[in-house]
Amino acid sequence: MKILAVATQKGGVGKSATTQALGVVLANAHGRRTLMVDVDPQSSLTLACGVTAEERSLAEVLDGKAKLGDVLVELDKNLWLAPADIALANTELFLAAQLGRETVLKRALVAAGSRFDVCLIDCPPSLGLLTINALTAADAVLIPTQPQVADLRGVRLFLSTLEKIREVLNPSLETLGIVATFYDNRLLHHRDAIETMKAGGLPLLPVFIGRSVRVAEAAAAGQSVITYEPSNKQTAAYRELAEIVNQWLNDPRKT
Ligand SMILES: Nc1ncnc2c1ncn2[C@@H]1O[C@H](COP(=O)(O)OP(=O)(O)OP(=O)(O)O)[C@@H](O)[C@H]1O
Ligand SMILES: [Mg+2]
Repeated sequence: MKILAVATQKGGVGKSATTQALGVVLANAHGRRTLMVDVDPQSSLTLACGVTAEERSLAEVLDGKAKLGDVLVELDKNLWLAPADIALANTELFLAAQLGRETVLKRALVAAGSRFDVCLIDCPPSLGLLTINALTAADAVLIPTQPQVADLRGVRLFLSTLEKIREVLNPSLETLGIVATFYDNRLLHHRDAIETMKAGGLPLLPVFIGRSVRVAEAAAAGQSVITYEPSNKQTAAYRELAEIVNQWLNDPRKT
């Protein structure tokens, strides 16, 4: 099983929507046994999958009270979710005092790894212990960002955080790349930000996710835009992004 964390400390940039869309496409179109893990106490991904708070959650796993397999929800053929709930906020405090606090998620995933081909971790918008756990468990990280010059400072800060994670916790962590979200090519400041990223040598992926109200509508309806509106332009963009992830999964350097 390869593990991809979808992360950055900035909020509202489409991390959860991207995780869900990738999960649906990798499971349905590529036939990958896909596990999505929601490590955000806000539980946006869990809710967008139509899973309610009554289900058991990842908090129990990280608290050592359950195994990952006990909390998984089967969403579709090849697609599972380890749901979040607000209890994860307490878990983050609990973890702080534990020995091996950065590797709790990694150990839980390794134990369940043979059941899946790929694991996608949807991170909270912070650099707290839950995100650190995700980046320590991951083989690679995907960084969504809105293409605005003001946000690029945050992206650079996040890239330097990844360097620290590599030095201390996870030397083999790859950067899959940065994906621009809410992109509108009619906006000069968006085009400027893209050019700035390219000129600065940032690892920008050649896929641009645009804004569509259908993405938010789909989340409110408990599904991804992929199934909600298959003909949507953003569905096509997410499929392109999933193709990049699929190629990375085929990369024999790691399995
Ligand atoms: N491409 C898109 N077009 C329009 N709306 C979108 C798009 N992607 C996400 N959204 C909506 O924007 C909001 C934020 O997206 P999302 O929850 O995916 O971001 P996030 O980075 O996970 O946020 P947080 O940092 O709070 O976890 C949600 O209401 C979501 O439905
Ligand atoms: Mg989110």
